[in-house]
Amino acid sequence: MKLLFIGDIVGQPGRRAVAELLPRLRREHQLDFAIANGENSAGGSGITPKTAGEIFDAGVDVITCGDHLWDQKEVMELLANEQRFLRPLNYPLGTPGRGSGIFEVQSLKAKGQSPVSIAVLNAQGRTFMQPPLDNPFPAAAEEVKKLRERTSIIFVDFHAEATSEKIALARYLDGRVSAVVGTHTHVQTADEQIFPGGTAFLSDAGFTGPHESVLGREIEPVIKRFLTNMPQRFEVAKNRVLLHGAVIDIDDATGKALKIQRVAEAVD
Ligand SMILES: [Fe+2]
Ligand SMILES: [Fe+2]
Repeated sequence: MKLLFIGDIVGQPGRRAVAELLPRLRREHQLDFAIANGENSAGGSGITPKTAGEIFDAGVDVITCGDHLWDQKEVMELLANEQRFLRPLNYPLGTPGRGSGIFEVQSLKAKGQSPVSIAVLNAQGRTFMQPPLDNPFPAAAEEVKKLRERTSIIFVDFHAEATSEKIALARYLDGRVSAVVGTHTHVQTADEQIFPGGTAFLSDAGFTGPHESVLGREIEPVIKRFLTNMPQRFEVAKNRVLLHGAVIDIDDATGKALKIQRVAEAVD
């Protein structure tokens, strides 16, 4: 099966990029499934049922999140009711919502055959990240063990700052999951590869939104903040809107990755 992972969707421009580009990407890459990180989809900070609805309507099957989880209070509704919305797994016990899910997919290649199950897992790093969560290494390993009883096709969005933590978690899970793709830095890395155990990896998928910006925000206030330390309003920028992510081809029978390819597409 072939899936597209879309890096952090930033604000209205990011949502528009997904709506405009995903149908074509689905056709061109013969995609079976699409996953997107939506933590910045509401005005650059957090996610609401409305922005999540727009992303699902655009053709995304599952939305993951990250440290911006709590920025909009309406997220509680998603955490309570939306099975296709995942938050980082390693929040303390008792946190609403869930960190993984299993979804049924009718693979395009295997038309007429029974649907394939794909598990999606969202976890958050701890190095240079707030708030400090539970250790994602044992949390992810334990969850993967449970998921593997149901399917060997497992995608992990690891929302983390440090490249070392991302590579280490992916190496740790190599052979146990199909892919680990990083999010959070909003900068797409060029280190896509498949590890010896069959796990596809990319340190960071990048972000989907306006790239004439600093990580999706207007440039001037960010510079001013660095110059003066004074608080600024960081509005979502407007121009050079790109969709960033990666397409991953997975062997249905073994769950091992066959190919990983970065995606960087501009809105016309
Ligand atoms: Fe983000
Ligand atoms: Fe983040």
